[in-house]
Amino acid sequence: MFQDQLVSYSGVQPSGNLTIGNYLGAIRNFSSYSEKYKCFYCVVDSHAITVRQVPADLRRRTYETLALYMACGLDPEKNTLYVQSHVHEHTDLAWILNCFTMFGELSRMTQFKDKSAKHSDNINAGLFTYPVLMASDILLYQTDVVPVGIDQKQHVELCRDIANRFNQLYPDTFTVPEPIMAKSGAKIMSLAEPTKKMSKSDENANAVVYILDDKDTIIRKFKRAVTDSDTCVRYAEGKDGINNLMTVYNAFTGKTFDEIEREFEGKGYGDFKMAVGEACADALAPVQQRFKEFMADKAMLEAQMKKGAEEASYVARRTLSKVQKKLGFVQVR
Ligand code: TYM
Repeated sequence: MFQDQLVSYSGVQPSGNLTIGNYLGAIRNFSSYSEKYKCFYCVVDSHAITVRQVPADLRRRTYETLALYMACGLDPEKNTLYVQSHVHEHTDLAWILNCFTMFGELSRMTQFKDKSAKHSDNINAGLFTYPVLMASDILLYQTDVVPVGIDQKQHVELCRDIANRFNQLYPDTFTVPEPIMAKSGAKIMSLAEPTKKMSKSDENANAVVYILDDKDTIIRKFKRAVTDSDTCVRYAEGKDGINNLMTVYNAFTGKTFDEIEREFEGKGYGDFKMAVGEACADALAPVQQRFKEFMADKAMLEAQMKKGAEEASYVARRTLSKVQKKLGFVQVR
């Protein structure tokens, strides 16, 4: 709760080109909170360096992620949009929360297990304590709701455990947040391996549809999507590829699974894939257009980053100071 207003908080890593999973599972939903909530949406660059990044790419993607936030409808006058490393309170609080998070809890995080298997040559401490930095992002703003895809639910639940533990020792410190998942699109799967989440770090570009892919590329990727040997468009167990395409189509068009099944009755997978590709490309076209315009004005993006960091720092400073006082740190201001 922030000055009698509920708070929505979320973040996206600038660690790769953003996908329709990021769009449908997260960013597209952020703006629905803008009217009723005080909203903070962060470009989490500090999280991104838990995996090695090429500096020029990280820099470019940080601008791009902010531009995409705006292109997806987040008005910087109604939402605080900022870059994580511009607000040092995130890492200050993360250290404190590290002392209230158990080794066993972090060891159980599935993202840590997945990422350490994928980057076995670089299982650094930051990768391990990543969820603590995420908890500090959320708790600094006294957040009520965290709109995320299903893959981040476990991290938000750990954040709740950390907040409750801290509140038990030092009452009334943090608001305990709720993860909120989109009704449709909270878990979009890879087009090449539909039992695996679509991920911006996938090496196979055909497995992933990026928000900035052009229409032809989007249609080509959907045409190649892995399905099954059946020919009937219906949602059923074992039909992971078709289930995923139906989910994407439902998320972009609002048509229910029943309506989709009826629409493609007697038609083959080819027609269906084409329709999914077109719905996706048509929905993304205006986002891409606005993105191009925002990216052409770097000075504007930098001014927004600065303004967002000032707004965020003001709130973050207050929470950090409250926490430090409760812990017994001497404050000499
Ligand atoms: P990240 O950058 O991996 O993803 C950003 C958001 O996109 C969602 N998402 C998906 N949703 C549906 N289908 C998919 N295939 C898919 N892939 C990704 C994610 O669930 C996420 O909501 N740790 C976070 C970033 C973060 C954060 C935070 C989020 C840092 N601090 C505080 C919320 C609050 C992450 O790596 O997201």
